[in-house]
Amino acid sequence: MLTLDLTNLQDALEGSTFPSLLGRVPEVHGWIESGSDPRPGNAYLGWRDLPQRITDAELAAQAACGARLRGLAPLCVVAGIGGSYLGARATIDALPAPGAAAIRYAGHHVDPEALSLLMAELSRNDFTVVVISKSGTTTETAVAFRLLRDELVRRHGKQGAAERIVAVTDARRGALRTLADQEGYETFVIPDDVGGRFSVLTPVGLVPIAAAGVDIAALVAGAKTVMEAAAPSPDYLPYRYAAARTALFQAGLAIEVLAAQSALLGGVCEWWQQLFGESEGKEGVGLFPAKVQYTTDLHSLGQWMQEGPRTVFETFLAVDGPASGITIPSDPDDLDGLNYLAGREVAAVNQAALEATRFAHLKGGVPNLTIHLERRDARHVGALFAFFERAVAMGGYLLGVDPFTQPGVEAYKQAMFALLGKPGARFADEAEWQGYQKRPAAVQSLDL
Ligand code: PA5
Repeated sequence: MLTLDLTNLQDALEGSTFPSLLGRVPEVHGWIESGSDPRPGNAYLGWRDLPQRITDAELAAQAACGARLRGLAPLCVVAGIGGSYLGARATIDALPAPGAAAIRYAGHHVDPEALSLLMAELSRNDFTVVVISKSGTTTETAVAFRLLRDELVRRHGKQGAAERIVAVTDARRGALRTLADQEGYETFVIPDDVGGRFSVLTPVGLVPIAAAGVDIAALVAGAKTVMEAAAPSPDYLPYRYAAARTALFQAGLAIEVLAAQSALLGGVCEWWQQLFGESEGKEGVGLFPAKVQYTTDLHSLGQWMQEGPRTVFETFLAVDGPASGITIPSDPDDLDGLNYLAGREVAAVNQAALEATRFAHLKGGVPNLTIHLERRDARHVGALFAFFERAVAMGGYLLGVDPFTQPGVEAYKQAMFALLGKPGARFADEAEWQGYQKRPAAVQSLDL
């Protein structure tokens, strides 16, 4: 069960645009379902029925690939970035499977030191690689994959390396497709009509998640329940959440903090951050999606949340059960003064922290809502993905933007390619770059 609790938003929503936004839900649901919005994002609506469309045979092939990779080596490196990485990592972090291959990540940065530490670890262990890129040309992923492939070829030869590499990419286009076909890698296809940040329930997410030993059928089943329940109704939970957060934005609360009360759900918050940031942040609007993990971050950002600028609301992500069975032991000396908690579940302490934070932050002027998951399992994580995907589609349209494009992410890439001398690449405006280089410098250093 997934529950949406808006109790602590009631005052903030009083007199807001919430009722009129809820009134628009049936119309906007119609746009999502029919694809009648005329903007380019309409070509990327395939996420709506992914869990319904996926066949048992496809799930079985992905699960078998995961099992094959686990059988080959104790380590599996997942190489991808953004939408080609965050969903897999979110799920794998949320649902650690005992005895599964250990997963490492690459291709989500070009930090030479982090890469060299990873390569040093891999030099001591046998490993497999799942490389994921829809375009097949993303620089970060391509750089990491070249290093990983070189290492595998050096150790196992071309044939042995090919057995250890799985590529998830476009059916026809891109350098990765060409390479995979030529080298004979096992491949999986990313559907054309699904954008990166909506692709966790395609092979982009499911192949690495299967390699980590997670039950992908249950993940998809959870998402299916949420997608099948979609209706032109203000009572459909994802749409209610979308309308509430949009109303808060229109009332001047431009920051949404997603606060995970489970240490294992930090990756889900990171996935959510991309989903909402890229979908809504355009044309001068969009909530800033910020993620925190409680109680950890109450000891760093708790002060800001309690007393900082009141331009923020909070969405708590709570896991209600089942009890873990970890209880606090009694100590005859009680030198740490903790015996008042002896015999109680650590979960009860976490629950008290959640309730105390909801109360304190509300009193401090931070309205909040809570999304409860009955338990942390594959079914609930899948349902949560679908919940947020449905919500961001509704939220983007309510804000007036096209939620399925990301034109803004190209600007830095164009400049980087021009700087690196990629064939054919140039600055969008060469004169602007020249002017930028001539700006007066304001740099100071301290000798160490
Ligand atoms: O959501 C997106 O579209 C992006 O985050 C992409 O997933 C990311 O840039 C990686 O792209 P690609 O899969 O083409 O390598």
